[in-house]
Amino acid sequence: MAIAGLILAAGKGTRMKSELPKGLHAVCGLPMVEIIARALAGAGVTNIAIVVGYGADQIRAALSDRPYRYAEQREQLGTGHAALMAESLFADFDGPILVTPGDTPLVDSDSLKRLLTEHKSSQALCTVATFSASASEPYGRAVRDGSGRIQRIVETRDATGEERTITEMNSAVYCFDAKTLFRILPTLTPDNDQNEFYLTDVVRIIYEESQRTHLVHFEDPALFDGVNDRWQLAQAEAALRQRVLRRHALNGVTLVDPATTYIDQSVEIGADTLLLPGTILAGDTQIGTGCRIGPNTRILDSRIGNNVEIVMSHLDRASMANNTRCGPFANLRPKAVVREGAKIGNFVEIKNAELGERAAVGHLAYIGDATVGAGSNIGAGVITANYDGFGKHRTTIGEGAFVGSNSTLIAPITVGSGAFVAAGSTISRDVRENALAIGRGTQVEKEGWAQRWRARHGQ
Ligand code: UD1
Ligand code: CA
Repeated sequence: MAIAGLILAAGKGTRMKSELPKGLHAVCGLPMVEIIARALAGAGVTNIAIVVGYGADQIRAALSDRPYRYAEQREQLGTGHAALMAESLFADFDGPILVTPGDTPLVDSDSLKRLLTEHKSSQALCTVATFSASASEPYGRAVRDGSGRIQRIVETRDATGEERTITEMNSAVYCFDAKTLFRILPTLTPDNDQNEFYLTDVVRIIYEESQRTHLVHFEDPALFDGVNDRWQLAQAEAALRQRVLRRHALNGVTLVDPATTYIDQSVEIGADTLLLPGTILAGDTQIGTGCRIGPNTRILDSRIGNNVEIVMSHLDRASMANNTRCGPFANLRPKAVVREGAKIGNFVEIKNAELGERAAVGHLAYIGDATVGAGSNIGAGVITANYDGFGKHRTTIGEGAFVGSNSTLIAPITVGSGAFVAAGSTISRDVRENALAIGRGTQVEKEGWAQRWRARHGQ
């Protein structure tokens, strides 16, 4: 049976003190709403809607490549009102709907699956996820009837003295029968301390109608930790980071120092890869098997093959094929493409350039807007002069070429396959295949000049 999901993310999140809507604040590299949407998808939800309000357009734009639908809540009149805004999106839907807040990034698919399973087996119309917390915490409390069934949820500010001693709290993660939910939502009234329409009142109404309510108590309260300010955001980051690190470790990745290893949620890493301290793997990055990465390396949105070694380097939107290496102190900028077996040494910057198979750029070079053919050797200090102050130009180096140390290749320029460029050359005209190009002043030697010079200065 199809399962629907509804994320309530219209609130402003005032305590974040941010221009960005709360749901777009990232935890381990993904916006919180996207994290929750992925957890829902992982629990089998195929039909996800998000209620947006504050920063609605920003949220839609940030998630434009995702298959979500949106409902807009123009005024934040409460969680019940927010859910009601999605009514028309689910007019044709008959089945269970998981409802979650937009700011609880630690809720995982397994917990949502458990909620769904119990919802089905208990044949409830509404199942509430609860957890235990100190009675002093300002959550909604789960009020049970004599037989232990959940009767209603009472917000702390509306609770009687006795209700305030209850320590079983509403997580704000629920599973409802969608038809029942959207039948009851329009009937809610804002008769509470905040004058808001409370989603929690739906639980009471279902109980009064049919007693078909159910709750699932979760042992780990951290699952439902909400993010309301930047400190809670930092704590959620730390908690989720542990989960991500653990997943990779159990999949066969060696983490030499988990305390200084940072991996975004969408990163993929093959088995037998080793991460040294200070490694940061961010964004949409994929790393193969048997690699050795770090220490002090940051890799963002990059593709790394198998058996690659990256030492103290920075990679951004780069790709390195199998059996390549770079660093220490290499800077691979966007569209750096390193083909199989190529080697990049220390203090080398590569941008929008392709290094062919087994090519080598060993030391102190800048290769920008260039193609370097297979097996070519680029000497220490070689610079592709790609920028004339207005436009960028390409350097094309054929296969098996040898560019001597400290040469400057003034683009646009081509160095043919098998050609040699003498060390210290400034090359401004194309070099033919298998030729030697020397672009430097001829050496002049004046015999005995030094002695005469010293004599003139009294030595
Ligand atoms: C809610 C629950 C409370 C529960 C707690 C758990 C209600 C009435 N109370 O309280 O029982 O213990 O969560 O954290 O539901 N939102 C909208 N539009 C609105 C109001 C809220 O979209 O008009 C969204 C918020 O963006 C947020 C979520 O709903 O993602 C929860 O809202 P919030 O105001 O944080 O609810 P709480 O008062 O914490
Ligand atoms: Ca909250």
